Amino acid sequence: MAKIKLSMPNLGDARMRKQKNTMTYTYRLDDTYKNEGHGKTYYIYTYGCQGNEADSEVISGILEDLGYTLAISGEDSDLVILNTCAIRENAENRIWGVLGNLKGIKAKRPNMLIGICGCMPQEENATNKLITSYPFVDLIFGTHNIYDLPKLLHEAYSKESKVIEVISTEGDIYEGAPKHRALNHKAWVNIMFGCDEFCTYCIVPYTRGKERSRAKDDIINEVKELVKKGYKEVTLLGQNVNAYGKDLGLDYTFGDLLYDLDKTGIARIRFTTSHPKDLDLKTIYAMRDCKSVMPQLHLPVQSGDDHILKKMNRKYTHQEYLDKIAILKKEIPNISLTTDIIVGFPNETEEEFNNTLKLVDEVKFEGAFTFIYSKREGTPAARMEDSVSLEEKHRRLDKLNELVDKYYLEGNKRFEGKIVHVLVDGISKNNKDNLCGYSENLKLVHFPSKDMSLIGQIVPVKIIEGKTWFALGELVSE
Ligand code: SAH
Ligand code: SF4
Ligand code: F3S
Repeated sequence: MAKIKLSMPNLGDARMRKQKNTMTYTYRLDDTYKNEGHGKTYYIYTYGCQGNEADSEVISGILEDLGYTLAISGEDSDLVILNTCAIRENAENRIWGVLGNLKGIKAKRPNMLIGICGCMPQEENATNKLITSYPFVDLIFGTHNIYDLPKLLHEAYSKESKVIEVISTEGDIYEGAPKHRALNHKAWVNIMFGCDEFCTYCIVPYTRGKERSRAKDDIINEVKELVKKGYKEVTLLGQNVNAYGKDLGLDYTFGDLLYDLDKTGIARIRFTTSHPKDLDLKTIYAMRDCKSVMPQLHLPVQSGDDHILKKMNRKYTHQEYLDKIAILKKEIPNISLTTDIIVGFPNETEEEFNNTLKLVDEVKFEGAFTFIYSKREGTPAARMEDSVSLEEKHRRLDKLNELVDKYYLEGNKRFEGKIVHVLVDGISKNNKDNLCGYSENLKLVHFPSKDMSLIGQIVPVKIIEGKTWFALGELVSE
């Protein structure tokens, strides 16, 4: 098949931070492409973080603007898009596996067009492998050019060519793109894009470009629109939301944004992800003062050891982290804290690992995502010497998970006998007689009910029993 190679990724370029101002563009569908999707169906597989989920909603919006309709599954759709994640090797392995399956489907349905986007194509190794080993992939694009999708699809269809365009730029902002939101009651709202932290293990600053904040009015107006449409909850998204506004050079920070969004009338505000170094008092006070800001915070610590934290370039110490936790617990006594932890960072010693366990005991996180360090080509940590065996890393992960699970359970048990308010998402997966949703503290709650009209509503539920991963309750009236 002919190839149109418009541009290839380059991790070296992606590392640069030279551009002074971020450009903001308004999305507009070029007349040339209108109705090009008419009569065709699409399906998107989304992997990775909420940033990717939000991007997939934009991709859906753009495709529907072109006339495509959503298929029931990837297998019988005309256009399949894989929105990928590159955070760890196993995330990438999963994608290679999915591509293997798609190969068989495409052999039976050769007219199906397969596109791949997201963070994986931003790595040159991955894109080279896609080109050489997966020739049936028709379209490869990245995180910076989802807004060019109409043009890219046009080229792929009209010239019957494989199209590759991955841009390693610092990134811009696009406002006004259509979004097909997955849900009607809770929504992702990007407040910023990219990351400038360069934690030494992490690929995200390379795949997502520089930290760039949306204008506050664009965010506030988006939330106001959501309120009008009946949305109950927004989750503000950014790799480091506490850095919001820094690039705009204004005296307006994330805390200010929370106070302003509280006034929009949205019932619930959550946000992710916070960086311990940038979490400031104004944010903590906004969490305390604003009724809509939920008493829950995900504050990735990564490690409890000062030496490892330094090697990770996290810019805080064990004690500084604890100091912030103490303020959070003082100002918001009912808060639920969760975190991310990496074990087996290059040359992590037993003692250094024990400092992480100690910190988990001190904070008593009510949940944690725990990972074994995964080497990412192109990052500084990939060049660090590592003499810890994989077997040992697994042992540490198991030990950490045992401790984390203990506090998970305690975090759910502490609500037994109490009334919480659950934003109902839908029918429980494992028991169709139950509905489920999340409480203020982001606890997953299941309760018996067949009243479908409750979906999308916030209802009072008395917690009967806290389990490790969820709580069981019953509907009450207030
Ligand atoms: N911006 C967020 C989350 C980024 S990715 C933050 O800073 O917290 C989500 C999590 O993946 C990280 O918090 C980290 O725990 C984990 N992670 C990132 N890179 C990793 C790697 N190379 N190996 C293992 N875990 C990693
Ligand atoms: Fe990665 Fe660190 Fe940025 Fe989070 S803050 S996305 S861990 S570089
Ligand atoms: Fe993965 Fe990219 Fe998100 S690497 S975690 S999809 S920013």
